[in-house]
Amino acid sequence: MLRANYKGKFMDIESVKSQFPIFKNKINGKPLIYLDSANSSQKPGRVIDRISKFYSKEFSNIGRSLHTLAVTATNRFEETRDLVKKYINAKSREEIIFTKNATEGMNLVASTYGEKFINKGDEILITELEHHSNYVPWHFLRQKKGAVIKFAKCNDKGEVEIDEIKKLITEKTKIIGITHLSNVTGAILPVKKIVDLAQTKKIPVLVDGCQGAPHLKLDMQELGCDFYAMSCHKMYGPTGVGILYAKKKWVDQLPPYQGGGGMIQEVKKDNITFPGSPTKYEAGTLQTAEVVGFSESIRFIQDVGIKNIMQHEKEITEYGLQELKKNNSVKIIGDPKNRGSIISFTIKGIHPHDIATILDEDGVAIRAGHHCCQILHEKMGVIATARVSLGVYNSKEDIDVLSNAIKKCNKIFNK
Ligand SMILES: Cc1ncc(COP(=O)(O)O)c(C=O)c1O
Repeated sequence: MLRANYKGKFMDIESVKSQFPIFKNKINGKPLIYLDSANSSQKPGRVIDRISKFYSKEFSNIGRSLHTLAVTATNRFEETRDLVKKYINAKSREEIIFTKNATEGMNLVASTYGEKFINKGDEILITELEHHSNYVPWHFLRQKKGAVIKFAKCNDKGEVEIDEIKKLITEKTKIIGITHLSNVTGAILPVKKIVDLAQTKKIPVLVDGCQGAPHLKLDMQELGCDFYAMSCHKMYGPTGVGILYAKKKWVDQLPPYQGGGGMIQEVKKDNITFPGSPTKYEAGTLQTAEVVGFSESIRFIQDVGIKNIMQHEKEITEYGLQELKKNNSVKIIGDPKNRGSIISFTIKGIHPHDIATILDEDGVAIRAGHHCCQILHEKMGVIATARVSLGVYNSKEDIDVLSNAIKKCNKIFNK
């Protein structure tokens, strides 16, 4: 078993699981085997405690009042921004925008960049792997402006190759939107190569980092992308917080997203001026406690070590694939060379919803459905799949329980 340097001490990475209070509960009388982290991860106690401490001792709205509590709360909130900046190696704090989730981040890009730079006949290049969050906002723009959406095809292995992207770039391509790690096939896309290619043509790249951020080492300056959207609830953090990384060159020239309090410089009856980023993108009262709580999620990841997390999840994913492949009725969707800790599958003769329901009886939590990727499911010729997705707290023992629960499914449905 992998050993991680946790808070300066070496310990089994599995014992990191004990940091998550949810695992003290039984589900249907059984220990919880949580295999739905791509949907949302569980939260370490330190994140929950931080939120509680903030509300008990430090709470005030931020960026408005000048009393002691308000200044303290504002400082704590902004400290998280600094922590995020450092964690993802952004160049400046203006590049870190707090949103409510990755979906809002991608809507922000489609809306502001689209408003300014995309016109009738211009092309938006996305992939067949995209989550609806990186398609629907572009669809709105297509309807509003008459833009064209092109889809880079995914191959039989559930990957999108660089040549497929290259083939579809034209002089009309105004933006490329790609997922970092597919939430269905688990494929990790060659983002750096795609960004390098796009830069030669001066095309900005938006990365949907929802599944990349919790599982991969992030370095915005090295990756070079223009926008990177994350959901903190998938990163051992609270719900209601997302981060949009947007390169300074863009935040300096794109218009505000939503209007309201907290995002203006001066308001007159005939004119309104706006401050710089991130203020102009953060309208209204923000998710203060959640953002402050998220600072502990980053510290948790840093303490365990993202490289340890990656290595651990790789080991469990490989074991999971090996065990699932032993069951002849299981068909794994996609076989990407470079895979993250996500395995989607079908079982002949059993609807994925039934698989999920039977597994739940044994305390095994998976997701079943189209995972907000209907285009991809149509392409793969299935309506729905069952999906196992891992987090730092999963072990080989979890996979064993999963495999046995699947055998039970077979016994019930495929008599
Ligand atoms: C790849 C990907 N993109 C976007 C999203 C949307 O995330 P959220 O609902 O947190 O905005 C998800 C969530 O499952 C996802 O997996």
